[in-house]
Amino acid sequence: MGDIPRKRHTMYKKEDGTLYREQVMGTKGFSGIQSILYHHYPPTSIVKSELLKDCSVHYEGQADLAHRHFYSHQYTEKTDAVMGRHYLLGNEDVLIGVVNPTEPMDFFYRNGDGDEVLFVHYGTGKVETMFGTLTYKPGDYIVIPIGTIYRVVPSEGDAKFLVIETNSWISTPKRYRNAHGQLLEHSPFCERDFHGPETLETHDDQNEYEVRTKSRGFMHAHTFNHHPLDVVGWDGYLFPYIFNVDDFEPITGRIHMPPPIHQTFEGNNFVICSFVPRMYDYHPEAIPAPYFHSNVNSDEVLYYVKGNFMSRKGISEGSMTLHPSGIPHGPHPGKIEASIGKKETLELAVMIDTFRPLRVVKQAQNYEDVEYKYSWK
Ligand SMILES: [Fe+2]
Repeated sequence: MGDIPRKRHTMYKKEDGTLYREQVMGTKGFSGIQSILYHHYPPTSIVKSELLKDCSVHYEGQADLAHRHFYSHQYTEKTDAVMGRHYLLGNEDVLIGVVNPTEPMDFFYRNGDGDEVLFVHYGTGKVETMFGTLTYKPGDYIVIPIGTIYRVVPSEGDAKFLVIETNSWISTPKRYRNAHGQLLEHSPFCERDFHGPETLETHDDQNEYEVRTKSRGFMHAHTFNHHPLDVVGWDGYLFPYIFNVDDFEPITGRIHMPPPIHQTFEGNNFVICSFVPRMYDYHPEAIPAPYFHSNVNSDEVLYYVKGNFMSRKGISEGSMTLHPSGIPHGPHPGKIEASIGKKETLELAVMIDTFRPLRVVKQAQNYEDVEYKYSWK
């Protein structure tokens, strides 16, 4: 996007003869994906650096091993997209929460630890980033790479994001890519379904701007002496993008297909899956509802977006369930019989499976359905 010099790492001059500042932004040292950006000003030039606050979450003490259910819609505080994030579950690899981003951010932000995924449950607006601007709508997964400076500018109206913060990198599953990185024909999505920044707006004013950086459990504030979105051009493979869940083409079969068919993204030690409206299994004697299953080395989180979730009772929009490894889970009483002969489901849910145990953040207890663990009686 924008303008870049013909050859990397060569002089790229402004009209007045001074140089644009080149930044190589990559992951995994210099062996992951990367982009090269050209700034008006050095991305390092700050006039003030402060420790802003402790962001560590407080987990509950050891509880009994049981299935949990939280009504995340009961968290109603309206804030900007960053400072009001309300975390419910987490471990060493991922932090899961919600936020109701109705207010604009009066600062810029970057996550210095890993990529972020913001799933838009509802609300519209735009995300202004150093790579350009993305516009979002319900059902969007907004994927923002580590270190990307951005701010969320919501449109008017109610808004809610499911927030997934990582300390690794988000990608689509490797098994859907050929040796060249192109998405294969059996993939539930293709390149056309992924949308990078639409416009690149370059700001070159030299006022003071605050950029908050989340790093190692703390929020830091850096005051820049220039606008942080001062990029005139960039190229490369690292950039924020949007994938809308309605573009996920479900994989269906004659008999029940296992959860990996829903996989959309992966990070280190976790996956993100999309349960979308789809035709049910078509074997004449098929049982469309899932069988009871033990999670093998994974904790399963489901965030219910909309539709009548086929295998559960007592679940509402915004519900978040946690089915920990070590004990089996499955459909609620009556749901197996009810699914037989049905042609389709309209459910929409996001699942996060983590390969290391999750812990419940203490404040999640405020929204807990404490009877859930007995709901299979
Ligand atoms: Fe499951």
